[in-house]
Formats: sequence, structure tokens, C-alpha cells
Amino acid sequence: MPVKWENSKYSKKSKQFLAKDPMSFPLLTLLDGAVRSGKTLNIVQKIPQIFDSIGNEYLKVFSGYSKSTVRNNVLIELKPYIENYLGGNLKYNTSSGEMEISLWGKKYPCLVVGGGDSDSVASIQGGTWDFWYANELPQHHYSFYNMALSRLTPANARAFADSNPESANHWLYQEKIKPYLENNPEVRKVFEYWHFKMSDNANLSKTFIENQEKLYSGAFKARKIDGLWIVAEGLVYDTFNTSKHVISHNQIIDKVKTNNIVEYFLGIDWGWNHPTACLLMGVDRFGKYYLLDELYSQKIEADNVIKWINQKQQEYGRYFSFANCDNARPEQNDKLRKATNLVIYEDKPRIEDSVSLVRGLINYDKLLVCETCTATLNEFLTYRYPSETEQLKFMGSNNADLPLKLNDDCMDALRYAIFKHLTTFNR
Ligand SMILES: Nc1ncnc2c1ncn2[C@@H]1O[C@H](COP(=O)(O)OP(=O)(O)OP(=O)(O)O)[C@@H](O)[C@H]1O
Ligand SMILES: [Mg+2]
Repeated sequence: MPVKWENSKYSKKSKQFLAKDPMSFPLLTLLDGAVRSGKTLNIVQKIPQIFDSIGNEYLKVFSGYSKSTVRNNVLIELKPYIENYLGGNLKYNTSSGEMEISLWGKKYPCLVVGGGDSDSVASIQGGTWDFWYANELPQHHYSFYNMALSRLTPANARAFADSNPESANHWLYQEKIKPYLENNPEVRKVFEYWHFKMSDNANLSKTFIENQEKLYSGAFKARKIDGLWIVAEGLVYDTFNTSKHVISHNQIIDKVKTNNIVEYFLGIDWGWNHPTACLLMGVDRFGKYYLLDELYSQKIEADNVIKWINQKQQEYGRYFSFANCDNARPEQNDKLRKATNLVIYEDKPRIEDSVSLVRGLINYDKLLVCETCTATLNEFLTYRYPSETEQLKFMGSNNADLPLKLNDDCMDALRYAIFKHLTTFNR
């Protein structure tokens, strides 16, 4: 639902931002900080004034991790704002990314692009821009970011970006934010930093903020709630609690028999020297997820997995609906497709996204693991982020703080299953 701007409330921070003359911002301005702190909507609200002051001589670019994230995060608010509140018009061609904004008697040619992949830089070579809005800047590829900055050659060109904090080893923190905070004059000439806390969004209720706080802990809490750029350390699922989140086999059988579990599905991470992990999940009508059963073994073929799945369908007396599998082994997935009744997906989710979904479930006590799933339980207690020294290796990459790829087979299978179910069937 787009925002009702007539009801907007403004904190001191956002009043300051909105009151500033567009031309008195430097080349790049970053709004970063806590989730839901109003970063994106402050920029959205500022855009008409910024356009008016820059003029319409050159191209204006909107980027995000992908075109669809720009659409979902930005255009969904920008279009009704321009059309219903300012009497303008926003035309967007989803497939080409071309966009035209008409406002106050001027037409602004714009382009929407995804910047998340290493090859996305190819889509923006050449051309001159006088405006760039990067939604979730740390999710852009480093080469895209550098290319984008080099397109902004006119003297009146301005770029704005928003972000949630990431690892302190991320290029954005190392190259811009840290030197800015250390008063580096070179950086301060071209870069301005606005830090937002949740309390800087006057439109949020106390209950909403409290609920958001429940979603995160550890490094995630420091970043998403406190808005700090810190290195993630320790266990990935540090709120997984064996006394709360493990359930007995009898209880599981009971839930199956009484039809409490309404859908069954699987996540599969293929291996050979590394073990293959195949996890059978169930979900009840309240959206609580159960890990019912696991197959975990080195050096097994697709045939063994197929046999196991068919056996389990008999044992539980239910058909399973789908499996979301590791896409690195298409031939194995094809075998499954032919030999089972399941829909086989090969939708590998991004680690950060799927880990945070699983974390959310754990924090709300919505993921329970059967005591017999010992390999998975072991991984819950060891799946961790690299230490600060281990992290230095990844410096400058987008992946500064992904969990270590060590004993993560069940964790991967779990992410695949849950991500697919949550994002596809549970909207
Ligand atoms: N000016 C405003 N008027 C009314 N509601 C607003 C306004 N600004 C923000 N909000 C409310 O606060 C929510 C969060 O704002 P916004 O999406 O800008 O935050 P954000 O900091 O970009 O969040 P995220 O980190 O999740 O991207 C909005 O969905 C909206 O409900
Ligand atoms: Mg945002």
C-alpha cells in the first residue's frame, strides 16, 4: 500500500534532509541506518525537487540489486507520489527498464537497471548521467558502482543512495563511510553521510519497532536495528535453542497422524565427497515449520535419494509437494523429476536473504527440529561466520560476511526448502 503522504510525520532528521537545497549536496549522498527508518521514502520525497534543480539535459538512472527490487522498493512509492500528489506522470517499461517522468512541465528520461551481478556493469557503459539513485547500494556490484560514478560528469550531477549496514569490511564502508567519519577532507568533498535510526522515522509505532527488534539478534541486530557497520561474528543461528526448538519423534508422529501438518516438501543439497543432505520439512496451518526427517550421507547417488523419498512418502502416508534443490547438479535434479511425483525446483536463494528468513522463523519459535535429525542439529550448533582474521581474505568483495562454507550441507538444504516455501506459497 503506497504511503498516504497527507498523514506523514517528520522527525528532525528527515526535516533537515528534506529542507536542504539539492545543489548543496555533494556528488554522492548516502542515507544509511536501521531498517524501516525512512531512508528510501525521504529520498523518494526529495526526488521531484532534485530533478527540478538538476534539469532534464541528461539521463537519470535508478538502480538496485535488480530491476524488480527497484520496482518493489522505490517505484511503488514514487509513481503514486508523482501522479496523485504532484499531478505528474511516471511511465515505466518493465522489460527495457526505460522510464519517463513528466513533472511541472518537464520530461525526464530515466532508466531502471539492476546492479547486483558482476556482468551488470555492461548495461551501463557509455552515456552521461546527471542523477543516480542507488537503492540498497551495498547490494550493487563494486564494478557497477565505480562505473556509475564515472557516468556522473556534468557539474550539476547528483547521486543519492540508501543502505542498511553490512560488514565493516564492505567496500562502501572502507572507501567512503569510514574515511568520512574520520573527517577525511578528500572524501568529504564528494560524499555526505546521513545516519538514520528507527526513531528518526516519526511514522512508526512503538509496537512496530518492538516487533522489528524481535526479528534480529547478534550482528544482525547491531546492523538492522542499531544501524551499525560491524563484522558478523559467531554462530549464524545464535538464537537456536535446543531446549526450545527440538521436538521429540513421538510429537512429530502425533502431528502427522492428527493431520496437523498440511504440507510436506524437501530441500536438497547435493554432494559427493561432501555429504548430500536431503531434508524433509512440514508446515502446519499456522505457518510453523517442522524438520521431520533427514538423509545425510557421503557418496550417495540420486537413486538413493529417490528411494528414500518414496519410502518416506509411504512411511508418512502423504505425498510430498516439491523439492527445492541445489542447482549445481542439474542431471541429478532431472533424475528426481523423472522418478518422483514431486515438482523439482532449482531455485538457489541468496545466502543472506535465506539465512535471515530462517533466523526470523527461529526468533519467533516457528521452526522446530525433530530430535532424530542429528546432522542438522550438529550444524545448527557449528554453522558460523568467519572470524575477523578469516574475513580479511574477503575484503573488497560483496561477500565480506557470508557464513563459512564448512559443515553447511544441512544448513543449505534447509535454506533452499524454507526460502522456496516462504517466498512462493506463503505470501
Ligand atoms: N513520509 C512518510 N510518510 C508516511 N509514512 C512513512 C514516511 N516515511 C516512511 N514511512 C513509513 O515507514 C516505512 C519505512 O520507510 P522506508 O521504506 O523509507 O524505510 P527504509 O529505511 O528505507 O527501510 P528499509 O531499510 O527496510 O529499506 C514505510 O513503509 C512507511 O510505512
Ligand atoms: Mg529502503
